[in-house]
Amino acid sequence: MPRLSARLADLQPSAVREMLQAAQQPDVISFAGGLPAEHSFDELDLSPPPREMLQYGPTEGEPPLREAIARRLASIGLDCPAERVMVLSGSQQGIDLAAKLVIDPGVVVAVENPCYLAALQVFRFFGARLQPFEVGEPRWASRAPALAYVTPTFQNPTGGCWTSEERSAFAGACAGNDVVLFEDDPYRDLVYDPCDRRPVCGFAPDGASWIYQGSFSKTFAPGLRLGFLAASENLFTLLVRLKQASDLHANRLSQWRVLQYLSAAGREARLDRVVGAYREARDAFDASLRRHLGNLASWRTPPGGLFFWVDLPRDVDEDALLARCLQRGVLFTPGRHFRVEPGPPGIRLNFSAASPERAEQGLAVIGEELRALRS
Ligand SMILES: Cc1ncc(COP(=O)(O)O)c(C=O)c1O
Repeated sequence: MPRLSARLADLQPSAVREMLQAAQQPDVISFAGGLPAEHSFDELDLSPPPREMLQYGPTEGEPPLREAIARRLASIGLDCPAERVMVLSGSQQGIDLAAKLVIDPGVVVAVENPCYLAALQVFRFFGARLQPFEVGEPRWASRAPALAYVTPTFQNPTGGCWTSEERSAFAGACAGNDVVLFEDDPYRDLVYDPCDRRPVCGFAPDGASWIYQGSFSKTFAPGLRLGFLAASENLFTLLVRLKQASDLHANRLSQWRVLQYLSAAGREARLDRVVGAYREARDAFDASLRRHLGNLASWRTPPGGLFFWVDLPRDVDEDALLARCLQRGVLFTPGRHFRVEPGPPGIRLNFSAASPERAEQGLAVIGEELRALRS
């Protein structure tokens, strides 16, 4: 028998990645992943990168890309020099690096409940003790966590967005208790209704420890596997070393493409069109939900992002519902995968991948099976 790491005991498969494989089958209507719509790739320029991009590059990322990211961060309320911006191989890598930076077995990590399931997967792998918190309530009265992982803007899975007061109070609570504030912000540009989107890290006082990260997956292309982080001075160099040990640097061809995209004349107009199409998809999905689950379930229309979180009646078993829907080729993610401790039944539905017609069909199936399950 090979002698493998004890950490593997806490390594669980990702429920969503396994379901995405099932979703590849023709005719499956999938609400399970977080995939951008295929039409959002239509206008992207894919001219070939220069040959020098085939060479090794710096761990922190291409300097012009880091500068472009720093300018953008300043424009949204987070002042951070380009020297403290690092390009990531997808923002999922930032979660891995932050976990390596802070978590030893038993270390307390505060998370929202429900929370992004692939972050839970990483934190559990490193042996974290997960401590759920409610935004806006007094936090960690007894033992402060070492790390607080938050997605305040269009959260995955709930789609919720924190108020300005919650943002500034949370930054203060982290700084006051020496908690590393880790803000994950991949959905901020997919905004459909007005709400405060200022980064919580932008409220962090001098001397506080924070990591902010974003992604190019949701507004550009997830296949490029590119994201970025910015961090407080005391953490940045350590994060660079951790990345060095992990993959040397992010893919330079992808970095070149993203830089072209960020500096393209039509970028803002393209983003407006993509966001406009998603807003229409969200509204159509909302209307389909009302038609098929209106008197059975409840939800808040998400002001941005890619998901609806739907609360089900208390007597419903999420997995039994999924099993019935799967028989009819409809897929969604049961809420338990996002939970840190048990809660009322709920499901996460992605509205960006299926066309409105397919979404209507799929939600009709979920409504029928929900009724059948309760009769
Ligand atoms: C909250 C959150 N963080 C991080 C990621 C990972 O994104 P990326 O494609 O940048 O690795 C996702 C992807 O769905 C996400 O929802």
